[in-house]
Amino acid sequence: YKKPDAPATGWSFDGAFGKWDVAQLQRGYKVYKEVCSACHSLKFVAFRNLTQLGYNEAQVKAEAASWQVPGIDPDTGEATSRAGTPVDYFPSPYPNDVAAAAANNNAIPPDLSLMTKARNDGTDYVYSLLRGYGPAPEEITTTHPDFETPAGLYYNEYFPNLNIAMAPQLTAGQVTYDDGTEATVDQMSQDVAAFLTWTAEPTLVKRKQTGWPVLGFLLFATILAYLAKQQIWSAVK
Ligand code: HEM
Repeated sequence: YKKPDAPATGWSFDGAFGKWDVAQLQRGYKVYKEVCSACHSLKFVAFRNLTQLGYNEAQVKAEAASWQVPGIDPDTGEATSRAGTPVDYFPSPYPNDVAAAAANNNAIPPDLSLMTKARNDGTDYVYSLLRGYGPAPEEITTTHPDFETPAGLYYNEYFPNLNIAMAPQLTAGQVTYDDGTEATVDQMSQDVAAFLTWTAEPTLVKRKQTGWPVLGFLLFATILAYLAKQQIWSAVK
């Protein structure tokens, strides 16, 4: 299958000086909420973590409350649902794996929290996968006439199995971005891939920034050790 593409402009968090593009993470969150969350959970991310995307506490509270999470009815003890609070985690749209498989042609939509770490070139992979649908190319169908995409599956050249149980999810203009960015399929794919990179490693930027003082300290310690060595051995000819 095909190696994933990166967007022409690269990712803001690439390289030693990489930084989150917070506006992009907010857009990606919107795509996750309005599209992906219908099938995919984000079980390692709590609503309170959204403060890292530039939302204040009141906004996070309101955002959490717009989600339904599993709860227990205090009177009957029965399982029910309630509005989320900042300490809750993003819920699964299905009560269990069987229900998830039954709703998706027997494939379970995986949790997306760590997806960009679970796959090679994960950010590029998610970006490419979302825009990678289309008919199988002629070069495949002519050289392998027996190749077919079974009913209920979709050809996607970036998916290792080639035929994926997830239908194409994005169409132009599907979400309305609050910052006025045009919601092309390419744009939404980039934004949600960036958002899922943040969910998988929220400390990515901090990790890179921490490296610089460490290198500075090591340089300083090296110079000090060199000068100390010069002084200690200065009497020896
Ligand atoms: C699989 C992302 C929306 C159903 C996947 C995979 C990713 C992904 C990364 C894993 C591919 C792999 O295993 O390598 C997304 C994103 C979405 C989205 C970013 C929103 C833009 C949806 C929706 C549905 C869905 C709305 C249901 C209608 C599935 C299913 C699979 C899957 C059933 C398993 C496919 C298989 O194993 O063949 N998705 N997804 N996805 N997704 Fe989605």
